[in-house]
Amino acid sequence: MFIKMFWCVLLLFSTISYTAESANILFVTTIPSHSHQVVFQPVWKELSLRGHNVTALALSPLNDKSLTNLTEIDLSYIFKLRKRVPKEYIKYVFQKPTFLMVFIREILGVDFVIKLHENILSQHSVMKLINEDYKFDVVVAEWIYPLAGAFATRFNCPLVGITSLGAPLTLLDTVGNPSHPIYAPDHNLPIGRELSLYDRILSTLYSVFARTLYHWVGAPKIDASMRKFFGEDMPYIEDIARNISVLLLNRNPVFHKIMPVVPAAIELGRVRSFGKVKPLNPELKEFLDNSKNGVVYFSLGSNTFSCDLPDNVREILVKVFEQLPYNVVWKWETEVLPGKPNNVFAQNWISQAALLAHPNVKLFITQGGLQSMEETINHHVPVIGIPFHSDQTMNVDTAVKYGFGLRIELEDLSIEGLKSAIHEIMTNQSYKENTAKIEKLMNDIPMEGLDKAIWWIEYVIRHKGARHLRSPSLDIPWYQYFLLDVIAFIALVLSISMYILIKVIKLTIRSAKKLLTNEKQKKQ
Ligand SMILES: *[C@@H]1O[C@H](CO)[C@@H](O)[C@H](O)[C@H]1NC(C)=O
Ligand SMILES: *[C@@H]1O[C@H](CO)[C@@H](O)[C@H](O)[C@H]1NC(C)=O
Repeated sequence: MFIKMFWCVLLLFSTISYTAESANILFVTTIPSHSHQVVFQPVWKELSLRGHNVTALALSPLNDKSLTNLTEIDLSYIFKLRKRVPKEYIKYVFQKPTFLMVFIREILGVDFVIKLHENILSQHSVMKLINEDYKFDVVVAEWIYPLAGAFATRFNCPLVGITSLGAPLTLLDTVGNPSHPIYAPDHNLPIGRELSLYDRILSTLYSVFARTLYHWVGAPKIDASMRKFFGEDMPYIEDIARNISVLLLNRNPVFHKIMPVVPAAIELGRVRSFGKVKPLNPELKEFLDNSKNGVVYFSLGSNTFSCDLPDNVREILVKVFEQLPYNVVWKWETEVLPGKPNNVFAQNWISQAALLAHPNVKLFITQGGLQSMEETINHHVPVIGIPFHSDQTMNVDTAVKYGFGLRIELEDLSIEGLKSAIHEIMTNQSYKENTAKIEKLMNDIPMEGLDKAIWWIEYVIRHKGARHLRSPSLDIPWYQYFLLDVIAFIALVLSISMYILIKVIKLTIRSAKKLLTNEKQKKQ
């Protein structure tokens, strides 16, 4: 009897210590963009392989039955809701990125994302998760809008933010990370590393505008939306967001513009999936094998469809490509590419990593998305960047800075200009050599980005948060942060001193004058 009880107690203890090591993790992703999701997939996969019990709200589920510790709530339906750009908006979407566009997107973005999030949150499987009694040790949330943070408050556990690129400044603010408008401007602005006076003025205005808009318009709307799903007794959304333990950023100081980071903001470097690269389809492989003169690869990534390009732009591309002594692979999303030249291979879906790895691919004409840039650097393929939005201008600027690419603005695109840029990169070896140089720099790191992400998530689990890493800037009032009280005090002391000084000088002059006139009168 006693022996039996002894074994029971022992068994109980062993299960307790076992559950302490394997945590319950909720992973929340919210943006239906393939290039965002590929960064997160390896993280939740690896967490599950290390024995954690992972539940993922997965927009792009892995659907891998061998991952027995992973439960994916399949939300891939959301990609189907994404529509192509309506014809009347094409001229607004396909243009050189400008400050005006960034300001407008900031205003329109909130409602769009709230709608998207509400769609996800009202799915039966997600409602069930919110309303049933699950226990989680940490919530890892895609940190692009703070609504996902509500899951951590709901389950009363610490929150870790993760991004597939850098983070906009309002979200860097949630960990108290400084975002200086001149030397660490918002990554969505259409600027490179060198800022003109115009850039500096607009970057400064933007940093005030984005925060004001977020605080007075965005946050209240997000808060109201959150209450619909998580209940009225939730804390205010800005307080939830600023309660974040650590923020994992998919950026690194070699590729990205250097910025200061507080201890709770972790630059992962880059998260690469070492999984299988999907093979090329046989038709494409044969085309590449036979392209002995070299191949130019043209793709605008997974979010911008090249079939939506304005007609005049497409015609320029077709004219340039047909005159090239090289073959071209074009990621084209519909059945027919109008005027397709014979040396062009057009296909809707392309295994980009496999294509860039092919030795005949010599140049990538890209919109400059981060994942594309990382893949091309990995395979030493130089680029011509035509940026459209978000961080693309900054990414293409990196290619120019390291000498592995050229930048062409959409509005400057011309037959001659594009032809000479292609000729320059195809004939000048230095571009390719420079991709190797930056690749070497990016790979010379103490720890892989994926390992770093896992380490920090487990750190937050071990210590039940990371309150001790919280930046003090989060807890001081804004007038103190901007030194307003200090400046006011010094200004007051200075003006009083000046006042006294001037009074004293005036008095001295007056008495000196009096003395002088007295002397004069005496002499007379
Ligand atoms: C699942 O987790 C257990 C420990 O909790 C671990 O031993 C096992 O290897 C994991 N299995 C898979 C397929 O990841
Ligand atoms: C902040 O996090 C702590 C610990 O996880 C939790 O107890 C607290 O309720 C959270 N506050 C808010 C506003 O979410």
